[in-house]
Parts: sequence; structure tokens; C-alpha cells
Amino acid sequence: MQAPLPFCTYLLLMLSCFVCVLPTNGFFVINCVIKGSLKYPANLKALCNKRELCVIPHNIPDQTRVLDLSYNHLMSIKKKDLIYFTKLTHLNVSHNWIKDIKEGAFRSLTALQELNLAHNNLHIISGGSFQNLFNLTVLRLDENQITNISASAFDPLISLVMVNLSGNHLAHIHEVQPLFQLLNIQELHIGRNGFSSFQTPQVSNTSLKLRVLDLSWNPLRVFRITADVFPHLESLGLAFSNESMTWDVQDASYLRNVSTLNLTGIEMNEEIKSVLQTFNTSLTNLSLYRLKEKTLIKTACLINPLRTLHVQSSRLASISAKELTGCTDLVTLDLSENSLRNITNLAFGFMTNLKRLSLSRNKLDSVPPAIWNLSSLEVLDLSYNSIYNLTCSDFNSLAQLQTLYLSRNPLYSVKPFQNLTNLKTLIISSSRLISVTNCFRACLQKLEFLDLTQNKLNYIHKEDFGDLKSLKHLLLNDNQITTIDKGAFEGLQKLTVLNLQSNKITQSSLKASVFSGLTNLKYLLLNNNYLSYSDQSNLVKPPFRYLKSLETLAIHSQGHKGMLNFPSNFLEGLTSLQVLTAGNLNLNFLYPNTFSHSPRLLSLDLSRNELTTVSQELFTPLKRLNRLHMFSTGLQSMDFLMQANLTEIQYLQISKNELAVINETFIASFTNLTYIDLQGNPFSCDCSNALFVDWAIRNNVTQVVNADQLTCNYPSKLRGNKLMELDFESCTVDKGFFCFISTTVFILLIMFSSILYHFLKWQVVYAYYRLLAFLYKSNQQRKTQSSGYQYDAFISYNTHDELWVMSELLPHVEGEQGWKLCLHHRDFQPGKPIIDNIVDGINRSRKTICVISRHYLESEWCSREIQVASFRLFDEKKDVLILVFLENIPPHQLSPYYRMRKLIKKRTYISWPKPGEDTRVFWEKLRMALEAKESSKEENPILSGISGT
Ligand SMILES: *[C@@H]1O[C@H](CO)[C@@H](O)[C@H](O)[C@H]1NC(C)=O
Ligand SMILES: *[C@@H]1O[C@H](CO)[C@@H](O)[C@H](O)[C@H]1NC(C)=O
Ligand SMILES: *[C@@H]1O[C@H](CO)[C@@H](O)[C@H](O)[C@H]1NC(C)=O
Ligand SMILES: *[C@@H]1O[C@H](CO)[C@@H](O)[C@H](O)[C@H]1NC(C)=O
Ligand SMILES: *[C@@H]1O[C@H](CO)[C@@H](O)[C@H](O)[C@H]1NC(C)=O
Repeated sequence: MQAPLPFCTYLLLMLSCFVCVLPTNGFFVINCVIKGSLKYPANLKALCNKRELCVIPHNIPDQTRVLDLSYNHLMSIKKKDLIYFTKLTHLNVSHNWIKDIKEGAFRSLTALQELNLAHNNLHIISGGSFQNLFNLTVLRLDENQITNISASAFDPLISLVMVNLSGNHLAHIHEVQPLFQLLNIQELHIGRNGFSSFQTPQVSNTSLKLRVLDLSWNPLRVFRITADVFPHLESLGLAFSNESMTWDVQDASYLRNVSTLNLTGIEMNEEIKSVLQTFNTSLTNLSLYRLKEKTLIKTACLINPLRTLHVQSSRLASISAKELTGCTDLVTLDLSENSLRNITNLAFGFMTNLKRLSLSRNKLDSVPPAIWNLSSLEVLDLSYNSIYNLTCSDFNSLAQLQTLYLSRNPLYSVKPFQNLTNLKTLIISSSRLISVTNCFRACLQKLEFLDLTQNKLNYIHKEDFGDLKSLKHLLLNDNQITTIDKGAFEGLQKLTVLNLQSNKITQSSLKASVFSGLTNLKYLLLNNNYLSYSDQSNLVKPPFRYLKSLETLAIHSQGHKGMLNFPSNFLEGLTSLQVLTAGNLNLNFLYPNTFSHSPRLLSLDLSRNELTTVSQELFTPLKRLNRLHMFSTGLQSMDFLMQANLTEIQYLQISKNELAVINETFIASFTNLTYIDLQGNPFSCDCSNALFVDWAIRNNVTQVVNADQLTCNYPSKLRGNKLMELDFESCTVDKGFFCFISTTVFILLIMFSSILYHFLKWQVVYAYYRLLAFLYKSNQQRKTQSSGYQYDAFISYNTHDELWVMSELLPHVEGEQGWKLCLHHRDFQPGKPIIDNIVDGINRSRKTICVISRHYLESEWCSREIQVASFRLFDEKKDVLILVFLENIPPHQLSPYYRMRKLIKKRTYISWPKPGEDTRVFWEKLRMALEAKESSKEENPILSGISGT
């Protein structure tokens, strides 16, 4: 037993639990969703974004690693706001209204690695802003109003690798000069400010590690480098620089490692040539979006090492060899978002190394013959053009092509794709194809991914896809498919994903033969079709019976009327099924053996079906289930889930049901639960939910999502109130109060009884028991009366006798005889007051077995247990006590234990045999005692004991 606590200590403890609730230990944080478990805080995330918060919520667990406060209305960060987050590694406070950060506001965040302050209203960065952020590697301050930065502000940031200050109002480069001095700085974004000159004397010392410098959108008039300060600079951004910029790099070797240059929107004329010349030996990647002057392409191609050229959004209407001669070494050419209509046949003629060509978002009406010579091409993007027809020879020479994008063209017919023997990915979505018969014959032996979404296909013929031996993904969603031929996918042995959602497939075209041959299919999506069944009876040929490997099946949302009935063997054959989404099907009933075909199910979604009642048998086969989504299913009780004993459940989405009470059995049943969503249930705001509220606030395993949003529906005067804000103190204080009264009365009575003993001996004792019984009863009425018993017997024993209980009693009575026992160390709910546990234990048990030894008689707690049991005897008029004597205790030794003496006088009791004697008779007696019904008439030891003497 527990070490005996003085009763008032216990009373105090019990009261204090409710007075000083400490939600910081729990999962319940108003306005935040906590991801992860408090037990393993290394992944703990607090997501408090988009909540219109004006202050940082308190109660966020101290152990949080990632804190997202973006998109709120925070105005400032105060000194104490973040003081406890010593483990925080990522803090996002972007998109707020923060005007000011108090000095030292981040001083506790020594573990912080990323700080995002973008899109706020900061004007000034003062000296102590980033105090102690020694581990910070990424700092975002873009899109603020910063005009001033204190010279010492960045000093603590010794680990800083990347800083973004774009989109501010800085005018002088010396404001950011300290950033260039940071030991580890690699990336510096200072675009969209007011810098009018960038000159090395302003930057001074060498930035040894700087790799990326972005100066785009500044009104730079001078760019002057007079010393070797950026020896490792790789990428330089000068997009949208001033058209009259003076470019003065005194020695081209100062920028010898710059391989990427962004000259988007450049408006310089002759000057640009000297800019490009600077990079003659290093530049491999050049961006010239929004190019004004086509001839610049030719100049760019003079740069020897150049391999990647972006000329997007430049309104080019045509391109020819004139511009592209000299670009023979290009590997990537991006001409997307132009107005190309005409490409002369020889435009790409000499690009024998070209691997990636994008002609996306142009005005081509056919595949340009210019590509015919590109025999090294691997990726070709022709999406978003106006191509109507493909001819057989369009891609003839592209034997190396691996990826072809043709989506968003008004294609209505496709000729067989020839010669594309290496093609792996083909995307023809959002076109007007009505049929693909004969398109994919013979040569596409390596095709793995075929996307035909959003076309007008209505009939899938046998052999449409049969030759695609390597195909793994086939996307046919968002078409008009009504019919699929028998064996249409035969031959696709490697197919793992088949997407048929949003078509017009009906139950009559969903035949098992359609899926024959798909031995490796893992994902089958059939949502938003027209499946509907008139009854639940077994299908003669269940549709999925060949899909032995299928892991995910999605069939939610069928037709206008819904699926209506779920044939009981619908899932037959799906022995590997792990995920089933079957929401919104207008189902009212599920046949109890529906899921017996899919015992490996891990995740099940039945949301938005008006199921109301669910049989326990339905869930019994699903022993592995760990995610269950049943929102809006009209559930009134979760008993079916408890009875099915699904202990693996971790994620439970049961919002918008008719659940009024979450009782302690429910809480105790799902010990692995990490997430439960109960929003939108009509909670009953009385003591029946007191335990749930306490648990929601303080347990550290299960997160009750948005617990603060749960509202009361009953009693009507509390309707609409927040469940978590209610005062449940009365539920427990009453109990404490009654305990207090009863103890006081008890003590007083003992005092008085000793005085009055001689005068009114039995009347006093009788009154004492009447009083206790009365108090106990009124206390009891406050609790929810559970109907049946959970246990056969509650065992009351002393710690010294634990060995006997564990090694003798338990194996015999629970093991052999099959009774269910309640043992305090095993069955008591942690965190619940001891006395409540005892009372509960006794009341949930049919009998109470007292294991009596000398130690037992001496222990206070045990006598309290007998007390409770005898109250029950007295109160409910039920005989529940079984006395087991472990040792022979002579009557004179029992005399101090008045009640015990009285009990054994009138009752039969069972004695444990002496060592060496046969124990079988003992166990038999015990079994009979346990079998006996609680008798109310005969012996009532307390009453008879009192009246008897
Ligand atoms: C800072 O980073 C280093 C290296 O990653 C790590 O060892 C140290 O524990 C971090 N400091 C804190 C306070 O987390
Ligand atoms: C070049 O700079 C422009 C403007 O800042 C930007 O939109 C574009 O994405 C950059 N291009 C590359 C390749 O980084
Ligand atoms: C494109 O070619 C057509 C003839 O094929 C010609 O009429 C048209 O002028 C050309 N457009 C341009 C911009 O060169
Ligand atoms: C596409 O091909 C069809 C017949 O194959 C032909 O009638 C039509 O004119 C062609 N359209 C274009 C734009 O070439
Ligand atoms: C393309 O394939 C056809 C036969 O399918 C063949 O005659 C032709 O030579 C091939 N073209 C090229 C360029 O390989």
C-alpha cells in the first residue's frame, strides 16, 4: 500500500490540485496546436499562426523547439515574452505588426537557429536586439521599414550564415557593413533598399566565406570593387539595377568565382558588355529575364563557360540561329514565357550539348521542327502552348529524351510516340484528348510516369496502356471515364499508383476483371465517381479481389446520392490494405464483418456518414488501427471503440458528433493516444466531464486539439460557454468538504463516544455508522453511477503481504479461476487521489477481499478500506466482504480492532493453511465465496454486531 498519508495532508493535496492548476505541464494551449509529445520534446512544435493574436499565448510548453507565430497581430516582442524557451531552435514571427523589439527580448534563446522577422513594421534595429543569439544561422528581416541598424546589433551573431534584409529603407551600405564582417556569413540579401552605391571601401575587410550577394532592385549608380574582398563569391544578383550604373571592377579576378549572375530586367546598353566581360572565365549560369535587347543573347554566349541561360519573359516573338550561334555549349536554355510563334528550323542547330529546353508558355501551334536536331535533349517542356496535333515524327530524333511536358495544349489527338525509347515521364494533362488508343504502343518501354489528368477520355480500351511495361504511375483522374474494358491494365506489372478519381465510373463498370494483372498496385484512388449499391448483400465478384498488394484505397464522395450501401464483402481480397478513406458516402450502416477482409488497416476514414451507432464487432478485427477519422458521423458514444479494445489508436478525429461526456474509462482505454479532436460535440457541463477537463489540461501525452473551443450544450443555462473555462472546483471541493466533515465528525464522535461510552454505548456507535453512511451516500450520488461491475473483487492488503498476493492469490484467483481482480498498484489510475481510487475500486468490484495479517491490522489505510467496504455493506445492504486470514491471530490480539472482532464473530472467514498443508480447500472456499451473490437479508455484520452484544 501507499505510505499512509495523514488525512489532512491528503485533503490539502487534493484541494491544491484544483487551486493551482499548472497548465504549462499539459497539452492544452489556447490558440495553438502543439505537435509532438511532451514525453519526447525534441520534436515539439507549437503552431500558433493565423490566429489574430495580439500577445504571445502563455502556457506554450517550455520545451518547444519550433514556435510559429506568423500571420498574427503582434505589435512588439517584450523582454519576458520568450524568456522560458531555452530550447527553441526555430522562431517565426513573420507577417505581424511588430514595431519594436525590446533589448534582450531574445536573450534566453541561446539555442535558436532560425529567426524569421520578415513582413513586420520594424524601423530600427537597436544594439541589444539579438543579444545571446550565438547559435543563430538564419535571420530574416526582409519587408520591414528598417532605416537604421545599430553598429553593434549583429555582434552576437557569430554563427550567422544567411541574412535577408531585402525590402527595407536602408540607404547607405555602411549600415550593413558589420554583416560583411561576420565570421560565418555566406549569404547576404540586401535587394530592394535605397543603396545608390556599392563600393569596396564601404565594405572594407575581406568576407572570406561570402558566397551569395543579392543587390537587386537598388538604385545603384556605382558598383566599384577595388580590392579582392569577395574571394569566394559565387552568386551575384544585380536584377533591375539602375540603367546608368557605373561598373568599375578594376581587376576581373576579384570576381573570379562568380558562376551565377542575375541580370534580370537589366536596362544598360553598352555598359552591359563590360559587365559580362568581367565574368568571362567563371560564369556558367546567367539570368536575363525581361531582356530588352535580343542581341544580348549573342553577347552572353561569348562567355566561354556559360552552360545555363534563362531568357524568360522577354516578349520574344521569334528566335533564330542569328541570336543563338555561339551558344553551342549551352546545356540548359530557358525560353519560357515569351511570345514565340516562329522558331526557324536551324535555330538550335548547333546545340549538340543541350539537355534541357523550355519553350513553355509561348504561342507555338505545333512542335517546332527546330528541335529535331537536338539528339542530346533529356527534358523538353512544351506546356502552355497552342499545339493542336502531334504527328508521328514530332519527336523522332529525341532518343535521349526522358521527360516531356505537353500539358495545357489544346491537343485532341495524339499519334503514336515513336523513337522515345528512353522516355520516363510524359505529362499530357489539361488537354482535350478523347481517346488514347494506339498512342502508347511499342516504343515507350521505359515510361514510368504517365499523366493524363483533365482530359476528355471516356472509354479505356483493352491494350490502351498494355505495352507500358515499366509504368509505375498512371494518372487518369478528372476525365469522363464511364467504361473500362476488362483487363485494360493487364501487363502493367509494375504499376503502383492508379488514379481514377473524378470520373464517371459506376458500380457496374467496377468489375474485378478491370483490375486483373495489377499485382503490384499499392494506391488506388476512386473518389468522386458514381459508385452506388442498392443493398449490402455480398457481391458475387467483389471488385478488388485481385489487388493483393493494395495499401491505400480512396473511395470517398460518390455521385449525388452517395454510395448508400457498403456491400459486406466489398473489401474482399485487400489483405494488405492499410489506408481506407470512405467518407461522405451517405452510409447509415456497416455490416459487422466489413473490415474482417482488411485486418492490416492502420488508418480509417468514415467521416461524414450518418452512422449514429456502430457495432463493436465492426472494429474488432482492426487490431492495428492507429488513425481513425469519424467526424460528423452522429456518434453518441465511443463505447464500440473501447469494447473493440483498439489500444494502438494514436490519432482520433471525432469532431462534430453527439458526444456529451468523455468519461474516465474512455481516457484510461487509449493510453497511446497523442491527438484527439473533439470540437463541435455537445458537451455536458457538469461534474461528469470534470475528470476529462482536468485530463485535457494536464495530461502530457494526449493533445486535445483546440480544447479551448469546446462548448457546453447542457445544462441549458450554460449553453455556449467554454467547457475549459468552467469551474469544476465544486465537484471536488464538495467531495473534500464532505470528507472533511466526515473526518471531523468521526474524530468528534470518537472523542464523545469515549466519554459517553458508559452511558450510551451502542446508540453512539450506531449513530456514528448512520452518519458515515449518510455522508458516504451523498458523496456517492455526486458521482456517475456505473451500472455493472468492472471487477470481481477488490483486494485490500498490506505491502508486507504483497508477495503472497502476487505469487499465490493472483495466479490462482485471476489465472486459474478467471476472476478479475482490482489491485491498487496495477489498476489504480495514476494522478487520482488515493481515497478516490480506493472508493472506486471497491465500488467497481463485486466483492472486497481483505487479506488480514498483523501488519494489515496495524495499517491505517487498510482499515479505511474496510471502512469503505463496510459502508457499502451498510449503505447498499450488500454483503461484499471476504476475510482471508493469512496468519493465526488469537482473539485477544484482535480485541483492539473492534470492528474486525465483530465481523469475524458473525462471519465465516477463510484461513490460509499452515506451511506444508494442502491449499486446495482454501482456494475452493475462496471460489465459493466469490461466487456467492451479495446477500442483503441474512447477516449484516455491522448491524448484527451492534445489536448482538
Ligand atoms: C549551439 O550549437 C552547437 C553546435 O551545433 C551545439 O553544440 C550547442 O549545444 C548549441 N547551443 C545551444 C545552447 O543549444
Ligand atoms: C533574378 O532576380 C529576379 C528579381 O529579383 C528574381 O525574380 C529571379 O527569380 C532571379 N532569378 C534567379 C534565377 O534567381
Ligand atoms: C512567322 O511565320 C509566318 C509564316 O510561317 C509568317 O507569316 C510570320 O510573319 C512569321 N512571324 C514572325 C514574327 O516572324
Ligand atoms: C489537326 O489534325 C486534323 C486531322 O488530323 C486536321 O483536320 C486539323 O486541321 C489539324 N489541326 C491543325 C491546327 O493542324
Ligand atoms: C525513328 O523510328 C523509325 C521507326 O520507328 C525509324 O525508321 C527512324 O529512323 C527513327 N528515327 C530516328 C531519327 O532515329
